[in-house]
Amino acid sequence: RSTNDTVAETYSEFLSQFYLNDTDSFMTTDFGTPIQDQNTLRVGPRGPSLLEDFMFRQKLQRFDHERVPERVVHARGTGAHGLFTSYADWSNITAASFLSAAGKQTPVFTRFSNVQGFRGSPDTVRDMHGFATKFYTDEGNFDLVGNTVPVFFITDAIQFPDLIHAVKPEPQNEIPQGGTAHDNAWDFFTQQPSSMHTVLWFMAGHGIPHTLRHVNGYGVHTFRLVRADGASKLVKFHWKSLQGVASKVWEEAQAAAGKNIDYMRQDLFNNIEAGRYPEWELGVQIMEESQMLAFGFDLLDPTKIVPEEYVPITWLGKMQLNANPMNYFAETEQIGMHPGHIVRGIDFSDDPLLQGRLYSYHDTQLNRHGGPNFEQIPINRPRVPVHNNNRDGVAQQFIPLNNAPYTPNSLDNGNPMQANQTVGDGFFTTPGRSASGHLVRTPAFTDFFSQARLFWNSLVPAEQQFVINAIVFENSKLSHASVRQNTVSAMNLVDNTLAVKVAEGLGLPPPKPNPTYYHNNKTCCVGSFGTPLLSV
Ligand code: HEM
Repeated sequence: RSTNDTVAETYSEFLSQFYLNDTDSFMTTDFGTPIQDQNTLRVGPRGPSLLEDFMFRQKLQRFDHERVPERVVHARGTGAHGLFTSYADWSNITAASFLSAAGKQTPVFTRFSNVQGFRGSPDTVRDMHGFATKFYTDEGNFDLVGNTVPVFFITDAIQFPDLIHAVKPEPQNEIPQGGTAHDNAWDFFTQQPSSMHTVLWFMAGHGIPHTLRHVNGYGVHTFRLVRADGASKLVKFHWKSLQGVASKVWEEAQAAAGKNIDYMRQDLFNNIEAGRYPEWELGVQIMEESQMLAFGFDLLDPTKIVPEEYVPITWLGKMQLNANPMNYFAETEQIGMHPGHIVRGIDFSDDPLLQGRLYSYHDTQLNRHGGPNFEQIPINRPRVPVHNNNRDGVAQQFIPLNNAPYTPNSLDNGNPMQANQTVGDGFFTTPGRSASGHLVRTPAFTDFFSQARLFWNSLVPAEQQFVINAIVFENSKLSHASVRQNTVSAMNLVDNTLAVKVAEGLGLPPPKPNPTYYHNNKTCCVGSFGTPLLSV
């Protein structure tokens, strides 16, 4: 019996208190009365049914209400339970308790997802993919809600509804899925230059992973790790697949979608059932607070990676996914990931995309779960007791015994104690964080092509050809010639060869190098980054 088995038992034990086992039982109503539920109550064998038939009404009513709103994005998902094991005592960089000792194990649930498709859409279409992990730590839940691409399309959360309206199936016909005309998406990408770096990542193989076991994950934003004494570092989170990273070619992805729209979901499920447990290493690039602007770009800008030549990754631990959910709806569908779920030792940065996400995820759970008690659903419950003076609401699952639920309180009626707010007992905001300035509504970042170009230049010729093919394929379907032309112009701001090849594929005139942005220099980024190209 390994340590793994013991911890695995603990988390299946926790969930097992909620399992509903129907073996050797009588059929009952929801309020427990034994019933026969195959025939409605009627006036004679051929007569009309009676409104009085509460069994019938309850069965149909429950059926009518089985669906909750699907996620407004990332609706298509699949998940699994697992364990995270810390490689060491990382208290030199963070107070996070799940990283406090070598070999320390923490239960996790990871949900992979497609961004734009609906819940029943094929999972092999070209798309951004989500990689979200809930760590059930012994100091509360930490959600690392990332993607399989390290950069994002936009830099300000106020633009998110525009991005999603543009990439979701078009309003008039709910098309496309999987490569048909998508004028809105390409119009948005070419009008919103911040999207260019991310577009290239998912036009390359990262948009069509081979399987979900073969993806890396990224926290995208800069976060903070904070020590118990309050000292902080800036970090970028990384998940590295120990299965390796692999993509499909487009024809393969189409064939897979044609044969089985659940290809990815099935692969993950089958491998876990067969005991071939996929694993990922969790790592961080660690930077000093003083390095916020040190690399030629702003660490708050979510369209930028930090080249590993500058800041190598420190590998903190390993996650193994080793158990499929017992019930898709109760676990994978009801899990509520939220970048605002952080624990002592982890803190945010001022990235305006992250700041907006901190509002949106809680708001959307209220919509999806119908009220504020979604954290009490088994899959969302922290594996530590919850004590506070939040009360009531739809479907409250607890019976609070404290009859003076307020602070300050002289009755001492079982009120929970306050944690130390600076450092020590509870979650604390990095003591060194400060902000000041005039109120503005202006863009925070302006350079969106240097790293798009860096990415393009890092690809080998075969990969570059895949990118060209993908852009040509997608754009050849567009009904607006103007958008096709805009795509060529946008690519020309990345690289003239790319733009010329895309133009050729679309039957458009080859663009001339753009003197404003473009310089035909394969080590384009030496000037701005200080060292030659990174490998991605
Ligand atoms: C899901 C909003 C950017 C990763 C969601 C959901 C919303 C949302 C409303 C649905 C959540 C649910 O119903 O459970 C936003 C907003 C963003 C943003 C407003 C920008 C301002 C990002 C970025 C990433 C990301 C940058 C990656 C770093 C995810 C993932 C999920 C998700 C992985 C699925 C979570 C799950 O599996 O349950 N997002 N998002 N999002 N988002 Fe974002």
